Amino acid sequence: MSDSAFRTMGQQAGRRSWAEPWKIKMVEPIFMTSREDREGAIVDAGFNTFLLRSEDVYIDLLTDSGTSAMSDRQWAGMMSGDEAYAGSRNFYHLEEAVRSVYGYRYLVPTHQGRGAEHLISQALISPGQIVPGNMYFTTTRMHQELAGGSFADVIVHEAHDPSDPSPFKGDVDLGKLESLIQREGAERIAYVSLAGTVNMAGGQPVSMANARALRELCDRYGIRVYLDATRMFENAYFIQQRESGYGDKSIRAIVHEFCGYTDGAWMSAKKDNLVNIGGWLAVNDPDLFDRLRNLVVIYEGLHTYGGMAGRDMEALAIGIGEGVEDDHVRTRVGQVQYLGQLLIDWGIPIVQPVGGHGVFLDARRFYPHIPQDQFPAQTLTAELYLDSGVRGMERGIVSAGRDPATGAHRYPALELTRLAIPRRVYTQAHMDVVAESVKAVYDARGATRGLKMVYEPRYLRFFQARFERLP
Ligand code: F0G
Repeated sequence: MSDSAFRTMGQQAGRRSWAEPWKIKMVEPIFMTSREDREGAIVDAGFNTFLLRSEDVYIDLLTDSGTSAMSDRQWAGMMSGDEAYAGSRNFYHLEEAVRSVYGYRYLVPTHQGRGAEHLISQALISPGQIVPGNMYFTTTRMHQELAGGSFADVIVHEAHDPSDPSPFKGDVDLGKLESLIQREGAERIAYVSLAGTVNMAGGQPVSMANARALRELCDRYGIRVYLDATRMFENAYFIQQRESGYGDKSIRAIVHEFCGYTDGAWMSAKKDNLVNIGGWLAVNDPDLFDRLRNLVVIYEGLHTYGGMAGRDMEALAIGIGEGVEDDHVRTRVGQVQYLGQLLIDWGIPIVQPVGGHGVFLDARRFYPHIPQDQFPAQTLTAELYLDSGVRGMERGIVSAGRDPATGAHRYPALELTRLAIPRRVYTQAHMDVVAESVKAVYDARGATRGLKMVYEPRYLRFFQARFERLP
């Protein structure tokens, strides 16, 4: 049921709302600043929300990465860290948690997701190879390119249309993938890079049917499939809600089946696994495991800690168990849907359907008068901060970067401002404040001017680029 239908029902007798399966034990104060303070802060930050100090932010929706609140059980687990250099017992807990929830055989811990992306890209990509995937992610593609590969987008075309209502806009276009394989030859395909959910498309899920069919297609050509499992629990929730035959299955069972169609996964544990730092890589092939276990000691740390402290691995092992619980995922995604539905009800253009980890504002439809090379989504992100101290992130032309072959801007179809919701951190009242601020910025849209880039770093420019307001 949609949230608006839900609210209508609320006026009737017999209403039953969902609520978070926890209560709050500890709080952290946050402060509203003045508009004048925020003007100074955003100019100092070069109109880039990554360059703001978090103390200058009121409600921080920059990312859902590493920003979750841990549970009392996780904090208790931190106290039982076994800080041995080798063979920490917490590593074995983590290994067991990954095996039982995701089902992969071998585990390599890393300090966070991009550490895992680095290792798998180095291990599997030879220079000149192609890595097809369901839309790029910034750090994932960067590591694929640094290993000598080139990324090929094979996501369904609906993913590029922010108002297309399809339920599984993260699916791989199998026809597109098969023609790519036939055109280039299977030996030129390093592996398929599958993400569930798809961050840059707005947190859109992949269906189980698509994962199963992808497996069959890749088996015919002898190509492997590796999963970016960063937000796989949220993906599983959408399968449970939207795909026939899965309504009575647990998130855990759905995750297990889905991962079974893949050969391994890399993970930014800072998202679905409910920790502030951590990552992992897990595979089924013993030879690949052997290579990865050797590589990890060069870049991350010994193969039984990979850049994490023992206590971090313990919190992570517990976080995996909590993160896959149905009640948790339902209220986590439910909060995102609540914010999205408010904006939809007010006629504000956002990516639909609302995704799993955040609400994505469609900057093209906010600012049809600002051309893409004047950075509409960067502008919108700054305007929202100026209005209320709410911090989001650009996910458009700045994030897309430049084509390494031509050096020209990449012009992505989606020009979005992402409001990512940290897990177990904010309340419904915070969501109301955010929605009201987005509405104020939308109402003032006609007078808003674009930006020019005045500093551009070489890699992943969105993190550190600086801008000035156009006259
Ligand atoms: N894959 C996906 C889908 C991600 O969203 C991220 C990080 C990574 C890999 C890399 O993981 O940050 O632990 O090194 N996404 C963050 C975000 C930064 O805000 O969406 P990491």
